[in-house]
Amino acid sequence: MNKKVLLLLSVTFFSMARAQEATLILNVEDAKTTISKHIYGHFSEHLGRCIYDGFWIDPKLNVPKRDRIRLDVVDALKKINIPNLRWPGGCFADEYHWRDGIGDRKKRPKMVNNNWGGVSEDNSFGTHEFLQLCDLLGTEPYIAGNVGSGTVEEMSKWVEYLNSDGDSPMTQIRKLNGQNKPWKVSFWGVGNESWGCGGNMTAEYYANEYRRYATFARNYASVSLKKIAGGANSADYNWTEVLMRNIPRHLMWGISLHHYTIPTGNWGKKGAATHFDEAEYFNTMKNCLFMDTLVSKHAAIMDKYDRDKQVALVVDEWGIWTDVEPGTHPGFLYQQNSLRDALIAGSTLNIFNNHADRVRMANLAQTVNVLQAIILTKGKEMLLTPTYYVFEMFKNHMEAKLIPFTLSSPDYISNNHKLPAVNVSASIDSSGKVNITLVNIDPKNEITIHANINGKSIGKVKGSILTSKSYTDINTFENKRKVIPANFAGAIISNGKVEIKIPELSVVSLLLY
Ligand code: AHR
Repeated sequence: MNKKVLLLLSVTFFSMARAQEATLILNVEDAKTTISKHIYGHFSEHLGRCIYDGFWIDPKLNVPKRDRIRLDVVDALKKINIPNLRWPGGCFADEYHWRDGIGDRKKRPKMVNNNWGGVSEDNSFGTHEFLQLCDLLGTEPYIAGNVGSGTVEEMSKWVEYLNSDGDSPMTQIRKLNGQNKPWKVSFWGVGNESWGCGGNMTAEYYANEYRRYATFARNYASVSLKKIAGGANSADYNWTEVLMRNIPRHLMWGISLHHYTIPTGNWGKKGAATHFDEAEYFNTMKNCLFMDTLVSKHAAIMDKYDRDKQVALVVDEWGIWTDVEPGTHPGFLYQQNSLRDALIAGSTLNIFNNHADRVRMANLAQTVNVLQAIILTKGKEMLLTPTYYVFEMFKNHMEAKLIPFTLSSPDYISNNHKLPAVNVSASIDSSGKVNITLVNIDPKNEITIHANINGKSIGKVKGSILTSKSYTDINTFENKRKVIPANFAGAIISNGKVEIKIPELSVVSLLLY
Protein backbone atom coordinates (compact mmCIF):
# COMPACT_ATOMS: atom_id res chain seq x y z
CA MET A 1 0.00 0.00 0.00
CA ASN A 2 1.46 3.37 -0.95
CA LYS A 3 1.79 6.20 1.55
CA LYS A 4 -1.10 8.27 0.07
CA VAL A 5 -3.62 5.40 0.33
CA LEU A 6 -2.47 4.66 3.86
CA LEU A 7 -2.90 8.31 4.80
CA LEU A 8 -6.38 8.41 3.22
CA LEU A 9 -7.41 5.23 5.00
CA SER A 10 -6.19 6.44 8.36
CA VAL A 11 -7.87 9.86 7.89
CA THR A 12 -11.15 8.07 6.99
CA PHE A 13 -10.83 5.70 9.94
CA PHE A 14 -10.03 8.60 12.27
CA SER A 15 -13.07 10.61 11.17
CA MET A 16 -15.27 7.50 11.36
CA ALA A 17 -14.03 6.85 14.89
CA ARG A 18 -14.98 10.42 15.80
CA ALA A 19 -18.44 10.36 14.19
CA GLN A 20 -20.30 9.44 17.35
CA GLU A 21 -23.98 10.30 17.56
CA ALA A 22 -26.54 10.18 20.35
CA THR A 23 -30.22 11.04 20.55
CA LEU A 24 -31.98 12.58 23.50
CA ILE A 25 -35.72 13.12 23.83
CA LEU A 26 -36.88 15.22 26.77
CA ASN A 27 -40.56 15.20 27.77
CA VAL A 28 -41.11 18.43 29.63
CA GLU A 29 -44.88 17.83 30.15
CA ASP A 30 -44.01 14.83 32.32
CA ALA A 31 -41.77 16.79 34.70
CA LYS A 32 -43.38 16.13 38.10
CA THR A 33 -40.79 14.98 40.63
CA THR A 34 -38.83 17.66 42.46
CA ILE A 35 -35.07 17.18 42.64
CA SER A 36 -34.36 17.79 46.32
CA LYS A 37 -31.62 20.34 46.89
CA HIS A 38 -30.35 18.01 49.61
CA ILE A 39 -28.91 15.70 46.93
CA TYR A 40 -26.16 18.34 46.73
CA GLY A 41 -25.11 17.92 50.36
CA HIS A 42 -21.60 17.57 51.79
CA PHE A 43 -19.87 15.77 54.63
CA SER A 44 -17.31 16.93 57.17
CA GLU A 45 -15.80 14.45 59.60
CA HIS A 46 -13.21 14.79 62.35
CA LEU A 47 -10.81 13.07 60.01
CA GLY A 48 -7.39 14.22 58.85
CA ARG A 49 -7.46 17.86 57.82
CA CYS A 50 -11.18 18.26 57.15
CA ILE A 51 -12.28 19.93 60.39
CA TYR A 52 -8.90 20.79 61.94
CA ASP A 53 -6.76 22.74 59.45
CA GLY A 54 -9.66 22.71 56.96
CA PHE A 55 -12.69 24.50 58.36
CA TRP A 56 -11.27 25.17 61.84
CA ILE A 57 -7.84 26.68 61.73
CA ASP A 58 -4.95 27.70 63.93
CA PRO A 59 -5.80 31.14 65.36
CA LYS A 60 -2.36 32.32 64.21
CA LEU A 61 -3.01 31.53 60.52
CA ASN A 62 -3.27 34.84 58.74
CA VAL A 63 -6.43 34.38 56.65
CA PRO A 64 -9.89 35.94 57.11
CA LYS A 65 -11.71 34.02 59.81
CA ARG A 66 -14.67 34.22 62.19
CA ASP A 67 -13.58 32.79 65.53
CA ARG A 68 -11.41 29.98 64.06
CA ILE A 69 -13.63 29.27 61.02
CA ARG A 70 -11.85 29.87 57.74
CA LEU A 71 -13.88 32.35 55.69
CA ASP A 72 -12.41 31.77 52.22
CA VAL A 73 -13.62 28.17 52.54
CA VAL A 74 -17.02 29.39 53.73
CA ASP A 75 -17.31 31.84 50.82
CA ALA A 76 -16.47 29.17 48.25
CA LEU A 77 -19.11 26.84 49.69
CA LYS A 78 -21.71 29.60 49.79
CA LYS A 79 -21.20 30.17 46.07
CA ILE A 80 -22.43 26.67 45.34
CA ASN A 81 -25.32 26.96 47.83
CA ILE A 82 -24.46 23.88 49.83
CA PRO A 83 -27.83 22.75 51.21
CA ASN A 84 -26.65 20.64 54.16
CA LEU A 85 -23.50 19.55 55.94
CA ARG A 86 -23.14 16.19 57.67
CA TRP A 87 -21.06 15.99 60.88
CA PRO A 88 -19.19 14.74 63.02
CA GLY A 89 -18.71 11.47 61.11
CA GLY A 90 -18.49 8.89 59.68
CA CYS A 91 -16.83 6.36 61.92
CA PHE A 92 -15.89 9.20 64.27
CA ALA A 93 -19.58 9.73 65.12
CA ASP A 94 -19.82 6.43 66.97
CA GLU A 95 -16.95 7.35 69.31
CA TYR A 96 -17.97 10.95 69.76
CA HIS A 97 -19.42 12.10 73.06
CA TRP A 98 -21.02 15.45 72.48
CA ARG A 99 -20.67 16.68 76.06
CA ASP A 100 -16.87 16.71 75.56
CA GLY A 101 -17.34 19.38 72.90
CA ILE A 102 -19.31 22.06 74.74
CA GLY A 103 -18.43 24.74 77.29
CA ASP A 104 -15.12 26.46 77.90
CA ARG A 105 -12.76 25.24 75.19
CA LYS A 106 -9.76 25.25 77.52
CA LYS A 107 -11.51 22.83 79.86
CA ARG A 108 -12.74 20.39 77.22
CA PRO A 109 -11.26 16.92 77.60
CA LYS A 110 -8.96 15.58 74.91
CA MET A 111 -9.52 12.22 73.23
CA VAL A 112 -7.69 9.96 70.84
CA ASN A 113 -9.20 9.74 67.37
CA ASN A 114 -8.97 5.96 67.14
CA ASN A 115 -10.46 5.75 63.68
CA TRP A 116 -8.28 8.28 61.94
CA GLY A 117 -4.58 8.09 62.70
CA GLY A 118 -4.76 7.92 66.50
CA VAL A 119 -4.19 11.66 66.69
CA SER A 120 -5.20 13.80 69.64
CA GLU A 121 -8.58 15.49 69.35
CA ASP A 122 -8.93 18.53 71.60
CA ASN A 123 -12.68 18.91 71.11
CA SER A 124 -12.26 22.61 70.34
CA PHE A 125 -14.70 22.12 67.46
CA GLY A 126 -17.97 20.89 68.95
CA THR A 127 -21.70 21.46 68.75
CA HIS A 128 -21.68 25.26 69.03
CA GLU A 129 -18.80 25.62 66.57
CA PHE A 130 -20.44 23.30 64.02
CA LEU A 131 -23.72 25.16 64.21
CA GLN A 132 -21.90 28.48 63.93
CA LEU A 133 -20.26 27.11 60.76
CA CYS A 134 -23.66 26.05 59.37
CA ASP A 135 -25.02 29.47 60.14
CA LEU A 136 -22.17 31.17 58.26
CA LEU A 137 -22.70 28.80 55.36
CA GLY A 138 -26.47 29.28 55.36
CA THR A 139 -26.76 25.50 55.29
CA GLU A 140 -28.77 22.89 57.20
CA PRO A 141 -26.93 20.79 59.76
CA TYR A 142 -27.12 17.02 59.48
CA ILE A 143 -25.84 15.49 62.73
CA ALA A 144 -24.99 11.82 63.15
CA GLY A 145 -25.55 10.60 66.71
CA ASN A 146 -23.56 7.93 68.50
CA VAL A 147 -25.19 4.49 68.63
CA GLY A 148 -22.04 2.35 68.67
CA SER A 149 -20.49 3.51 71.95
CA GLY A 150 -23.07 5.99 73.24
CA THR A 151 -26.26 5.48 75.18
CA VAL A 152 -29.88 6.16 74.35
CA GLU A 153 -29.81 8.77 77.11
CA GLU A 154 -26.76 10.51 75.62
CA MET A 155 -28.39 10.83 72.20
CA SER A 156 -31.70 11.86 73.68
CA LYS A 157 -30.07 14.61 75.73
CA TRP A 158 -28.13 15.90 72.71
CA VAL A 159 -31.37 16.37 70.80
CA GLU A 160 -32.89 18.09 73.82
CA TYR A 161 -29.84 20.37 74.12
CA LEU A 162 -30.16 21.29 70.46
CA ASN A 163 -33.87 21.64 69.94
CA SER A 164 -35.82 22.08 73.17
CA ASP A 165 -37.33 25.40 74.10
CA GLY A 166 -38.48 24.13 77.51
CA ASP A 167 -36.85 24.59 80.89
CA SER A 168 -34.61 21.62 81.64
CA PRO A 169 -31.03 20.94 82.74
CA MET A 170 -30.02 20.58 79.09
CA THR A 171 -31.52 23.88 77.96
CA GLN A 172 -30.08 25.64 80.98
CA ILE A 173 -26.58 24.42 80.14
CA ARG A 174 -27.10 25.46 76.52
CA LYS A 175 -28.07 28.94 77.64
CA LEU A 176 -25.08 29.16 79.99
CA ASN A 177 -22.95 28.23 76.97
CA GLY A 178 -24.30 31.21 75.08
CA GLN A 179 -27.16 29.83 72.98
CA ASN A 180 -30.58 30.95 74.14
CA LYS A 181 -32.79 29.75 71.33
CA PRO A 182 -32.91 26.15 70.12
CA TRP A 183 -31.06 25.59 66.86
CA LYS A 184 -33.80 23.55 65.13
CA VAL A 185 -31.61 20.78 63.82
CA SER A 186 -33.80 18.45 61.78
CA PHE A 187 -31.59 15.93 59.90
CA TRP A 188 -30.60 13.31 62.43
CA GLY A 189 -28.49 10.22 61.72
CA VAL A 190 -29.01 7.35 64.15
CA GLY A 191 -25.47 5.93 64.09
CA ASN A 192 -23.18 5.36 61.13
CA GLU A 193 -22.13 2.15 59.36
CA SER A 194 -23.50 0.06 62.20
CA TRP A 195 -22.56 -3.01 60.14
CA GLY A 196 -18.87 -1.99 60.51
CA CYS A 197 -17.05 0.75 62.43
CA GLY A 198 -20.33 1.74 64.09
CA GLY A 199 -20.58 -1.47 66.09
CA ASN A 200 -20.32 -4.50 63.78
CA MET A 201 -24.00 -5.25 64.28
CA THR A 202 -26.30 -7.50 62.35
CA ALA A 203 -29.14 -5.85 60.48
CA GLU A 204 -31.71 -7.35 62.88
CA TYR A 205 -29.82 -6.17 65.97
CA TYR A 206 -29.34 -2.65 64.56
CA ALA A 207 -33.01 -2.40 63.59
CA ASN A 208 -33.98 -3.11 67.21
CA GLU A 209 -31.42 -0.66 68.55
CA TYR A 210 -32.62 1.92 66.04
CA ARG A 211 -36.15 1.65 67.38
CA ARG A 212 -34.96 2.50 70.92
CA TYR A 213 -32.61 5.32 69.96
CA ALA A 214 -35.09 6.86 67.54
CA THR A 215 -37.92 6.71 70.05
CA PHE A 216 -36.04 8.84 72.57
CA ALA A 217 -34.61 11.23 70.00
CA ARG A 218 -37.67 13.43 70.56
CA ASN A 219 -39.42 15.98 68.44
CA TYR A 220 -39.57 19.34 70.18
CA ALA A 221 -41.95 22.18 69.43
CA SER A 222 -39.28 24.00 67.44
CA VAL A 223 -38.79 21.23 64.87
CA SER A 224 -39.50 17.59 64.00
CA LEU A 225 -36.52 15.34 63.50
CA LYS A 226 -35.94 13.69 60.13
CA LYS A 227 -34.40 10.50 61.47
CA ILE A 228 -32.10 8.61 59.15
CA ALA A 229 -31.22 4.97 59.72
CA GLY A 230 -27.67 3.85 59.04
CA GLY A 231 -28.12 1.95 55.82
CA ALA A 232 -26.35 -0.55 53.65
CA ASN A 233 -22.77 -0.96 52.61
CA SER A 234 -22.96 -0.85 48.79
CA ALA A 235 -24.70 -4.01 47.56
CA ASP A 236 -25.81 -5.36 50.93
CA TYR A 237 -29.46 -5.52 49.87
CA ASN A 238 -30.40 -7.66 52.86
CA TRP A 239 -29.55 -4.74 55.18
CA THR A 240 -32.09 -2.51 53.43
CA GLU A 241 -34.67 -5.31 53.40
CA VAL A 242 -34.38 -5.93 57.16
CA LEU A 243 -34.49 -2.25 58.08
CA MET A 244 -37.49 -1.56 55.86
CA ARG A 245 -39.30 -4.58 57.30
CA ASN A 246 -38.45 -4.05 60.98
CA ILE A 247 -38.50 -0.29 61.52
CA PRO A 248 -41.88 1.44 61.76
CA ARG A 249 -42.42 4.21 59.18
CA HIS A 250 -43.07 6.98 61.74
CA LEU A 251 -39.59 6.47 63.21
CA MET A 252 -37.65 6.69 59.96
CA TRP A 253 -37.52 9.63 57.52
CA GLY A 254 -34.71 8.09 55.54
CA ILE A 255 -32.37 5.16 55.19
CA SER A 256 -28.81 5.67 54.10
CA LEU A 257 -26.51 4.00 51.60
CA HIS A 258 -22.73 4.24 51.41
CA HIS A 259 -20.83 3.52 48.23
CA TYR A 260 -17.31 4.55 47.34
CA THR A 261 -15.72 4.31 43.90
CA ILE A 262 -12.48 2.39 44.28
CA PRO A 263 -10.42 2.69 41.05
CA THR A 264 -8.97 -0.82 41.13
CA GLY A 265 -11.91 -2.31 43.01
CA ASN A 266 -9.38 -3.49 45.60
CA TRP A 267 -9.53 -1.83 49.04
CA GLY A 268 -5.95 -2.99 49.78
CA LYS A 269 -4.47 -1.14 46.79
CA LYS A 270 -7.06 1.32 45.61
CA GLY A 271 -5.00 3.09 42.94
CA ALA A 272 -3.44 6.54 42.78
CA ALA A 273 -5.42 9.76 42.50
CA THR A 274 -3.36 11.21 39.67
CA HIS A 275 -1.35 8.46 38.01
CA PHE A 276 -3.45 5.86 36.23
CA ASP A 277 -3.79 4.38 32.77
CA GLU A 278 -6.85 3.95 30.59
CA ALA A 279 -7.65 0.48 31.94
CA GLU A 280 -7.81 1.89 35.45
CA TYR A 281 -9.78 4.90 34.25
CA PHE A 282 -12.31 2.60 32.59
CA ASN A 283 -12.60 0.46 35.71
CA THR A 284 -13.10 3.55 37.87
CA MET A 285 -15.94 4.81 35.69
CA LYS A 286 -17.51 1.37 35.70
CA ASN A 287 -17.41 1.31 39.52
CA CYS A 288 -18.84 4.82 39.61
CA LEU A 289 -21.72 4.04 37.23
CA PHE A 290 -22.57 1.02 39.38
CA MET A 291 -24.29 3.58 41.62
CA ASP A 292 -27.23 3.45 39.20
CA THR A 293 -27.68 -0.30 39.74
CA LEU A 294 -27.26 0.10 43.48
CA VAL A 295 -29.82 2.86 43.80
CA SER A 296 -32.30 1.01 41.56
CA LYS A 297 -32.00 -2.21 43.53
CA HIS A 298 -32.18 -0.62 46.99
CA ALA A 299 -35.11 1.50 45.79
CA ALA A 300 -36.92 -1.60 44.48
CA ILE A 301 -36.63 -3.21 47.94
CA MET A 302 -37.91 -0.02 49.54
CA ASP A 303 -40.84 0.02 47.10
CA LYS A 304 -41.97 -3.38 48.42
CA TYR A 305 -42.49 -1.91 51.90
CA ASP A 306 -43.20 1.69 51.02
CA ARG A 307 -45.06 2.07 47.75
CA ASP A 308 -45.74 5.76 48.35
CA LYS A 309 -42.02 6.44 48.62
CA GLN A 310 -42.27 8.13 51.99
CA VAL A 311 -38.85 6.96 53.13
CA ALA A 312 -35.94 8.76 51.48
CA LEU A 313 -32.85 6.97 50.25
CA VAL A 314 -29.98 9.06 51.62
CA VAL A 315 -26.63 8.37 49.97
CA ASP A 316 -24.76 10.11 52.72
CA GLU A 317 -21.30 8.91 51.73
CA TRP A 318 -20.19 8.68 48.11
CA GLY A 319 -17.21 9.59 45.97
CA ILE A 320 -13.87 8.23 44.77
CA TRP A 321 -11.49 6.77 47.36
CA THR A 322 -7.88 6.41 46.18
CA ASP A 323 -4.55 5.77 47.89
CA VAL A 324 -3.43 8.80 49.88
CA GLU A 325 -1.05 11.30 48.29
CA PRO A 326 2.53 10.04 48.72
CA GLY A 327 4.15 11.41 51.87
CA THR A 328 0.87 12.20 53.63
CA HIS A 329 -0.48 10.55 56.78
CA PRO A 330 -2.13 7.25 55.78
CA GLY A 331 -4.92 7.83 58.32
CA PHE A 332 -5.76 11.28 56.95
CA LEU A 333 -7.16 10.18 53.57
CA TYR A 334 -5.79 13.20 51.70
CA GLN A 335 -6.02 12.72 47.94
CA GLN A 336 -5.71 14.96 44.90
CA ASN A 337 -8.70 15.50 42.64
CA SER A 338 -8.48 15.17 38.87
CA LEU A 339 -10.72 15.60 35.86
CA ARG A 340 -11.63 11.92 36.44
CA ASP A 341 -13.15 12.97 39.78
CA ALA A 342 -15.20 15.63 38.02
CA LEU A 343 -16.57 13.04 35.58
CA ILE A 344 -17.45 10.85 38.57
CA ALA A 345 -19.20 13.73 40.31
CA GLY A 346 -21.17 14.69 37.20
CA SER A 347 -22.19 11.10 36.44
CA THR A 348 -23.18 10.41 40.06
CA LEU A 349 -25.20 13.60 40.41
CA ASN A 350 -26.97 12.74 37.13
CA ILE A 351 -27.81 9.32 38.60
CA PHE A 352 -29.17 10.88 41.81
CA ASN A 353 -31.25 13.43 39.88
CA ASN A 354 -32.71 10.67 37.76
CA HIS A 355 -33.72 8.79 40.92
CA ALA A 356 -35.12 11.90 42.61
CA ASP A 357 -38.33 10.07 43.47
CA ARG A 358 -36.35 8.08 46.06
CA VAL A 359 -32.95 9.74 46.49
CA ARG A 360 -33.77 12.86 48.44
CA MET A 361 -30.43 13.49 50.10
CA ALA A 362 -26.76 12.72 49.42
CA ASN A 363 -23.42 13.78 50.82
CA LEU A 364 -20.14 13.76 48.98
CA ALA A 365 -17.21 12.54 51.10
CA GLN A 366 -15.66 14.90 52.14
CA THR A 367 -15.76 18.69 51.81
CA VAL A 368 -12.19 19.81 52.57
CA ASN A 369 -8.85 17.92 52.33
CA VAL A 370 -10.33 14.42 52.62
CA LEU A 371 -11.24 11.89 49.87
CA GLN A 372 -13.11 13.51 46.95
CA ALA A 373 -12.71 16.99 48.39
CA ILE A 374 -14.13 20.01 46.65
CA ILE A 375 -11.62 22.26 48.42
CA LEU A 376 -7.96 21.68 49.27
CA THR A 377 -5.97 23.89 51.62
CA LYS A 378 -2.27 24.33 52.32
CA GLY A 379 -1.40 26.93 54.94
CA LYS A 380 -2.91 30.19 53.73
CA GLU A 381 -3.58 28.77 50.27
CA MET A 382 -6.85 27.29 49.12
CA LEU A 383 -7.85 25.75 45.80
CA LEU A 384 -11.08 24.59 44.23
CA THR A 385 -10.92 21.12 42.74
CA PRO A 386 -12.51 20.01 39.44
CA THR A 387 -15.26 18.39 41.54
CA TYR A 388 -16.12 21.77 43.06
CA TYR A 389 -16.90 23.14 39.62
CA VAL A 390 -19.26 20.28 38.86
CA PHE A 391 -21.36 21.27 41.87
CA GLU A 392 -21.33 24.83 40.58
CA MET A 393 -22.49 23.69 37.14
CA PHE A 394 -25.25 21.46 38.52
CA LYS A 395 -26.71 23.85 41.07
CA ASN A 396 -29.68 24.91 38.92
CA HIS A 397 -31.13 21.42 39.35
CA MET A 398 -31.78 22.06 43.06
CA GLU A 399 -35.55 22.09 43.72
CA ALA A 400 -36.32 22.02 39.97
CA LYS A 401 -38.61 19.40 38.42
CA LEU A 402 -36.91 16.39 36.90
CA ILE A 403 -37.60 16.02 33.17
CA PRO A 404 -38.01 12.37 32.09
CA PHE A 405 -36.07 11.51 28.93
CA THR A 406 -34.92 8.74 26.65
CA LEU A 407 -31.29 8.66 25.63
CA SER A 408 -29.49 6.46 23.17
CA SER A 409 -25.78 6.79 23.80
CA PRO A 410 -22.86 5.34 21.88
CA ASP A 411 -20.55 3.12 23.88
CA TYR A 412 -17.18 4.02 25.28
CA ILE A 413 -15.21 0.91 24.33
CA SER A 414 -11.90 0.05 25.92
CA ASN A 415 -10.15 -3.27 25.67
CA ASN A 416 -13.35 -4.98 24.45
CA HIS A 417 -15.32 -3.68 27.44
CA LYS A 418 -17.97 -1.06 27.08
CA LEU A 419 -19.89 1.56 29.05
CA PRO A 420 -22.45 4.15 27.92
CA ALA A 421 -20.31 7.12 26.88
CA VAL A 422 -22.88 9.79 27.72
CA ASN A 423 -25.04 10.30 30.77
CA VAL A 424 -27.57 13.06 31.29
CA SER A 425 -30.13 14.60 33.61
CA ALA A 426 -32.53 17.46 32.96
CA SER A 427 -34.89 19.65 34.93
CA ILE A 428 -37.19 22.63 34.55
CA ASP A 429 -37.10 25.37 37.17
CA SER A 430 -39.93 27.52 38.50
CA SER A 431 -39.27 30.20 35.88
CA GLY A 432 -39.57 27.68 33.04
CA LYS A 433 -35.86 27.42 32.21
CA VAL A 434 -34.61 23.99 31.21
CA ASN A 435 -31.31 22.83 32.64
CA ILE A 436 -29.48 19.88 31.07
CA THR A 437 -26.27 18.41 32.47
CA LEU A 438 -24.30 16.00 30.34
CA VAL A 439 -21.15 13.97 30.86
CA ASN A 440 -19.05 12.34 28.13
CA ILE A 441 -16.70 9.84 29.76
CA ASP A 442 -15.15 8.69 26.46
CA PRO A 443 -11.51 9.83 26.39
CA LYS A 444 -11.24 9.81 22.60
CA ASN A 445 -14.55 10.71 20.98
CA GLU A 446 -16.54 13.88 20.76
CA ILE A 447 -20.25 13.00 20.60
CA THR A 448 -22.99 14.84 18.75
CA ILE A 449 -26.26 14.70 20.62
CA HIS A 450 -29.48 15.39 18.71
CA ALA A 451 -31.94 16.59 21.33
CA ASN A 452 -35.70 17.06 21.03
CA ILE A 453 -37.38 19.01 23.75
CA ASN A 454 -41.04 18.04 23.70
CA GLY A 455 -43.50 20.38 25.36
CA LYS A 456 -41.38 23.49 25.50
CA SER A 457 -40.32 25.94 22.85
CA ILE A 458 -36.74 26.97 23.15
CA GLY A 459 -35.14 30.10 21.70
CA LYS A 460 -31.85 30.52 23.50
CA VAL A 461 -29.11 28.41 25.01
CA LYS A 462 -26.26 29.24 27.36
CA GLY A 463 -23.69 26.70 28.45
CA SER A 464 -20.53 25.95 30.34
CA ILE A 465 -18.03 23.14 30.01
CA LEU A 466 -15.46 21.54 32.29
CA THR A 467 -12.77 19.61 30.46
CA SER A 468 -9.01 19.27 30.05
CA LYS A 469 -6.53 17.35 27.93
CA SER A 470 -6.21 14.36 30.19
CA TYR A 471 -8.32 12.66 32.80
CA THR A 472 -5.31 12.93 35.12
CA ASP A 473 -5.24 16.75 35.00
CA ILE A 474 -5.53 18.48 38.37
CA ASN A 475 -5.51 21.90 39.96
CA THR A 476 -2.42 22.47 42.09
CA PHE A 477 -1.35 25.21 44.48
CA GLU A 478 1.05 26.32 41.74
CA ASN A 479 -1.60 26.25 39.01
CA LYS A 480 -5.06 26.54 40.54
CA ARG A 481 -6.89 27.13 37.26
CA LYS A 482 -5.87 24.25 35.03
CA VAL A 483 -9.26 22.53 35.20
CA ILE A 484 -11.92 25.23 35.40
CA PRO A 485 -15.21 25.78 33.56
CA ALA A 486 -15.36 27.77 30.34
CA ASN A 487 -18.18 29.06 28.16
CA PHE A 488 -19.60 26.34 25.97
CA ALA A 489 -20.55 27.21 22.41
CA GLY A 490 -21.16 23.66 21.22
CA ALA A 491 -24.97 23.73 21.49
CA ILE A 492 -27.00 25.09 18.59
CA ILE A 493 -30.77 25.50 18.35
CA SER A 494 -32.36 25.01 14.98
CA ASN A 495 -36.05 24.38 14.22
CA GLY A 496 -36.76 23.93 17.90
CA LYS A 497 -34.21 21.14 18.19
CA VAL A 498 -30.83 21.30 19.87
CA GLU A 499 -27.60 19.85 18.54
CA ILE A 500 -24.93 19.47 21.20
CA LYS A 501 -21.35 18.56 20.40
CA ILE A 502 -19.93 17.32 23.66
CA PRO A 503 -16.14 16.88 23.57
CA GLU A 504 -14.38 13.84 25.00
CA LEU A 505 -13.84 13.86 28.78
CA SER A 506 -16.19 16.67 29.59
CA VAL A 507 -19.02 17.82 31.79
CA VAL A 508 -21.44 20.25 30.13
CA SER A 509 -24.24 22.27 31.67
CA LEU A 510 -26.86 23.95 29.46
CA LEU A 511 -29.56 26.44 30.26
CA LEU A 512 -32.29 26.63 27.63
CA TYR A 513 -35.08 29.20 27.58
O1 AHR B 1 -15.50 8.88 54.78
C1 AHR B 1 -14.55 8.09 55.42
C2 AHR B 1 -15.17 6.94 56.16
O2 AHR B 1 -15.75 6.05 55.25
C3 AHR B 1 -16.29 7.25 57.10
O3 AHR B 1 -15.84 7.65 58.34
C4 AHR B 1 -17.02 5.95 57.21
O4 AHR B 1 -18.39 6.12 57.49
C5 AHR B 1 -16.76 5.29 55.87
O5 AHR B 1 -16.34 3.99 56.02
